[in-house]
Amino acid sequence: GAVLVCLIGYCGFFLGVSCSNVISNAKNTVQSFKRFHGRAFSDPFVQAEKTSLAYELVQLPTGSTGIKVMYMEEERNFTIEQMTGMLLTKLKETAENALKKPVVDCVVSVPCFYTDAERRSVMDATQIAGLNCLRLINESTAVALAYGIYKQDLPALEEKPRNVVFVDMGHSAYQVSICAFNKGKLKVLATAFDTTLGGRKFDEMLVEYFCEEFGKKYKLDIKSKIRALLRLYQECEKLKKLMSANASDLPLNIECFMNDIDVSGTMNRSKFLEMCDGLLARVEAPLRSVLEQAKLKKEDIYAVEIVGGTTRIPAVKEKISKFFGKEVSTTLNADEAVARGCALQCAILSPAFKVREFSITDLIPYPISLRWNSPAEEGLSDCEVFPKNHAAPFSKVLTFYRKEPFTLEAYYSSPKELPYPDPAIAHFLVQKVTPQTDGSSSKVKVKVRVNIHGIFSVSSASLVEVHKSDDSEEPMETDQHAKEEEVMDFKMQVDQEEQQKTEEQQQVQAENKAESEEMETSQDDSKDKKVDQPPQAKKAKVKTTTVDLPIENQLVWQIGKDMLNLFIENEGKMIMQDKLEKERNDAKNAVEEYVYDMRDKLCSIYEKFVSEDDRNSFTLKLEDTENWLYEDGEDQPKQIYIDKLTELKALGQPIQARFQESEERPKAFEDLGKQIQQYMKTVHAFKAKDEQYDHLDEADVAKVEKSANEAMEWMNNKLNLQNKRSLTLDPVIKAKDIQAKTKELASICNPIVTKPKPKVELPKEEQKPTEPNGPVEGQGDGSSGAQSAEPNAAPAPTATEKKLPEMDID
Ligand SMILES: *[C@@H]1O[C@H](CO)[C@@H](O)[C@H](O)[C@H]1NC(C)=O
Ligand SMILES: *[C@@H]1O[C@H](CO)[C@@H](O)[C@H](O)[C@H]1NC(C)=O
Ligand SMILES: *[C@@H]1O[C@H](CO)[C@@H](O)[C@H](O)[C@H]1NC(C)=O
Ligand SMILES: *[C@@H]1O[C@H](CO)[C@@H](O)[C@H](O)[C@H]1NC(C)=O
Repeated sequence: GAVLVCLIGYCGFFLGVSCSNVISNAKNTVQSFKRFHGRAFSDPFVQAEKTSLAYELVQLPTGSTGIKVMYMEEERNFTIEQMTGMLLTKLKETAENALKKPVVDCVVSVPCFYTDAERRSVMDATQIAGLNCLRLINESTAVALAYGIYKQDLPALEEKPRNVVFVDMGHSAYQVSICAFNKGKLKVLATAFDTTLGGRKFDEMLVEYFCEEFGKKYKLDIKSKIRALLRLYQECEKLKKLMSANASDLPLNIECFMNDIDVSGTMNRSKFLEMCDGLLARVEAPLRSVLEQAKLKKEDIYAVEIVGGTTRIPAVKEKISKFFGKEVSTTLNADEAVARGCALQCAILSPAFKVREFSITDLIPYPISLRWNSPAEEGLSDCEVFPKNHAAPFSKVLTFYRKEPFTLEAYYSSPKELPYPDPAIAHFLVQKVTPQTDGSSSKVKVKVRVNIHGIFSVSSASLVEVHKSDDSEEPMETDQHAKEEEVMDFKMQVDQEEQQKTEEQQQVQAENKAESEEMETSQDDSKDKKVDQPPQAKKAKVKTTTVDLPIENQLVWQIGKDMLNLFIENEGKMIMQDKLEKERNDAKNAVEEYVYDMRDKLCSIYEKFVSEDDRNSFTLKLEDTENWLYEDGEDQPKQIYIDKLTELKALGQPIQARFQESEERPKAFEDLGKQIQQYMKTVHAFKAKDEQYDHLDEADVAKVEKSANEAMEWMNNKLNLQNKRSLTLDPVIKAKDIQAKTKELASICNPIVTKPKPKVELPKEEQKPTEPNGPVEGQGDGSSGAQSAEPNAAPAPTATEKKLPEMDID
């Protein structure tokens, strides 16, 4: 088994011998695995999905979910990151083949409800594929970008924004968002979702119905046979699409469905609607939720844009439009809006493109809190650092007073909202914290951020060393944290740049902060104290320096660096393997192609160039090879094919060469003949005292005549011999030898016959006639030498030469 990857529908692909179809290679066809990113095998969601898959999920040694497939006739367990890595590798290759240049940067969309673990997992997959992910963008946000960037009539910045609702129901999930648009700007106001409501669920309804129907009617246990079940899924999906356009009774027929039985049934839209009542009832809740979160009324909504294949179901569309009391708009391409948004985002972030400025402010879908051990309170303290619907990307600085290293535990503080079983995000250990020289607690500034990918981290920590110049006031020890300045990233930029920018901003703020330091430290244990102190706080004679502190993080389900490197290496090996496999296939195809091509030509253009006996035996050999390719030669190593081709070529090459020679020979002879004629003409003209040649030397002309005559004789001789020779034999003379003869003749005769005529000069000056000829001859390359006898263009060339470098061509 070779690995051949191809895209089918929704984020799935084949890993098998061919990509002919899902059904014939069901167990080795992996699809819809996106939902397993960042999940433990024991995750209830994974356990529930496991049963309805054609491929097998396994528990990896780390506890995470893996997929078992046959690769190179060997059982292998791949991580989800590796699977997505393979998919991305394939997409990368496809893009590179289309663009004819390497692809490195990418923007990847994820459902807006993805948690940190899922996002990090997707980021790892991009690394495995050798891609540089500029941003993970929420699908709903990508759609909003695709909508807004081309809109010319958005309200100006100071005007009331235009609120647009985006409803995206795709294959497996349902996402709704409200965005506020102003010129060049979009702000996500709220999002809501149903993580399991999508086209799949509607298909399942039909599948369940027909499983039961056919079970009764034909006594078939469809679910016992995965191939049959997958076929039914495909047919039901088709039927669902037909029903979106046609409300009458529609048939569902499958030939040789199971145990050689043909099955048939019917369905119509109204019946389908009845069956899907429960699903349709779930459409409304997220719509209601976004309005509530954004504190908007239905009248505040300018438009409701729908995307995603499942919004094509008329009843879904109706539900949405009924809820908002207005027609839904389908301005955007339902299937491509997300991809277009990603492409636009990539163009905005990449320095290689010039795109209209468009800023995006997104939201944090789940509140994030930090928890730590507080020596003062002798217990755990916690603080919600990012409340729900806080803008993102975003950084905040927190201040702690500590004498030793400490741990911050990040977690989602509203587990009920989380479509993920584990609220933990990560532990961050802030290391190398030491007390001040006087034994008091050090001030530690910790920067927490949700980055452009929507991933939370404690991104940096620093210890502020205070060097007092006078010992007037002893700052009191505090063990309190304070919620600090908020650093907002207004502009979207490449991650590194953005970080840099915020770091600069932060420094400024850190300095401001140092000024108000004394006031703050003297107030002891006021919890959650906001440091919005007026900046005119008394000037302290305090100098501070900051020392960066290392942070060690333990992330939930994060692949270790070593592991990731191993995966990257493995992906490289598989790409290599694919390449080898392709080469092997190419070698095989080359044999096949040669067989067909030769067989065809042997009885057409090559026929004259091979004896009957040789032709018969060669044809036989070609036939044998063809048969071999379908039997023993079906699956051989590359070298065998190469050897086979060499063997055939040993027979075919001479024939081909004879044909080739016979094609080129007449022209070669003709060229030589013309050449000879031309020299003879010059000789005759000279002898006739033609004025044009009266400057030539008599002996030289005699030499030309002799050479031309000799060449003529040579040519006639060869022509004679060749004409007598059978075409099935190698020719007496090759075209390239004739060409060589032509060249040889020219090298003798050309310098003589093209010798320039001396300049007509005033008879008095005797040296001059030769001099100007020097440079003229020097620059002539022989072909133009004969005509450029007039020495008038001497300075011109340098001028044009000088001009050349200025002609800068991009
Ligand atoms: C794949 O995982 C399964 C289940 O954990 C295990 O039994 C099997 O040995 C693994 N296969 C390989 C090749 O590692
Ligand atoms: C709907 O399907 C039926 C049955 O296949 C067909 O006869 C009819 O022409 C279709 N109607 C439309 C509008 O396509
Ligand atoms: C749809 O199918 C149901 C049940 O098979 C049937 O009662 C109903 O008449 C059909 N409706 C249409 C419009 O064909
Ligand atoms: C969308 O993506 C951003 C990153 O740009 C992330 O911070 C946020 O969690 C996501 N927003 C929603 C509403 O899911």
